[in-house]
Amino acid sequence: MKLPQADFRHRRDRLAEKMGPNSIAIIATREEMYRNRDADYKFRADSSFFYLTGFAEPEAVAVIETFEDDDYSYSLFCRERNREMEIWNGYRAGIDGAIEDYDADEAYAIDLLDEEIIEKLLNKERLYYRIGHNAAFDARVSQWIKQADAEHRHESAPAHLAQLDRIVDEMRLVKSPQELELMQIAANISAEAHTCAMQMVRPGMMEYALEAELNYIFGQNGCVPSYNSIVGGGANACILHYVENNQPLKDGDLVLIDAACEYEFYASDITRTFPVNGKFSAEQKALYEVVLASQYAAIDAVRIGNSYREPHEVAVKILTEGLVNLGLLKGDVNELIKTEAYRQFYMHGTGHWLGMDVHDVGSYKKGEDWRQYEEGMVVTVEPGLYIAPDDETVDEKWRGIGIRIEDDVVATSKGPRVLTANVVKDIADIEHLMAQAKA
Ligand code: GLY
Ligand code: MN
Ligand code: MN
Repeated sequence: MKLPQADFRHRRDRLAEKMGPNSIAIIATREEMYRNRDADYKFRADSSFFYLTGFAEPEAVAVIETFEDDDYSYSLFCRERNREMEIWNGYRAGIDGAIEDYDADEAYAIDLLDEEIIEKLLNKERLYYRIGHNAAFDARVSQWIKQADAEHRHESAPAHLAQLDRIVDEMRLVKSPQELELMQIAANISAEAHTCAMQMVRPGMMEYALEAELNYIFGQNGCVPSYNSIVGGGANACILHYVENNQPLKDGDLVLIDAACEYEFYASDITRTFPVNGKFSAEQKALYEVVLASQYAAIDAVRIGNSYREPHEVAVKILTEGLVNLGLLKGDVNELIKTEAYRQFYMHGTGHWLGMDVHDVGSYKKGEDWRQYEEGMVVTVEPGLYIAPDDETVDEKWRGIGIRIEDDVVATSKGPRVLTANVVKDIADIEHLMAQAKA
């Protein structure tokens, strides 16, 4: 499933409206990047650029100009068609394709950008630009402004420079039903990958071999991971951004997998933690139940009108109570929360916006205050507990256990909707699934 061009046009309509009259917005896609020497990373368009254009080729810049009336025009600067380059590097839409297939009102060769942009900048009141993303492009924009002023005595460059991200990030934060459909597909594929990992894991298997099982499912569905996969056995789960994934998975340990794919530019983000041998030990079970209870309660707090921070506060309370009940923390729960003593075992936030980027755009506060959930916002809910292997303040039996459970949740008028519900997380369900896979 792909979004129709009409959806991208509708986004540009909304942007033009928010820009106000007599303004110009310039947005470039990201640069191609080398991985090493002349081997490059596979290109992936900038999310906000793609959001507005649906155009996935490298070397492209979109320009939106609004006029005195309500009208606006959309120009796409892109690579020209070139038979030889296309034989080497693949198909290009070219100038005609930009107009016919991508709905541009005007299209130009990217090489003409420096020349054509000056005319477009003249006599506009406001320039919307994504300041600070790319130093070289920032310098180019400054040069255009200088040039527009210098070369045209009776006309001038925009007097006001505004941060385009402020508008586009807000638009991206609230997902349309069509975007949610894409996110649901990404979530379903990722859930299938986690289910497969639970079925395939065996003691002695390498972490990277389990990662390969996830990648197989992503790849079979035409997807790539939306971030570097974390597959951490035992105490490796206590390293929050562990991506080496190069150790054997041991009988008796848990394995934490934080991995998910993106589908048509929309990400998912799932974490599951389960026993390598299919059975939780008593200590693993006790800690897992605390994390799971905190996660259920935090998901339930993703409600329209609740503060963004509510799920975190709910999770922290349940985690801290659990830590006290199990004897890992001592003292009064409220006091332990106030002094942030729980951070010894829970040192990260409970979620983040999710969308085209895994840590998606959109502000978390309005002024001083946490903002409230609105229909169509998507957030992850990912509490955890991590007992460092060398933490001598706790009984030895707890050390080296790391647990996180993460789902993707949409705020809706009917309450929280979990996109990633297709992969089990209750202990009995995990053990049952794993036992069936062995039978
Ligand atoms: N996988 C990145 C995160 O959970 O934030
Ligand atoms: Mn996350
Ligand atoms: Mn994650």
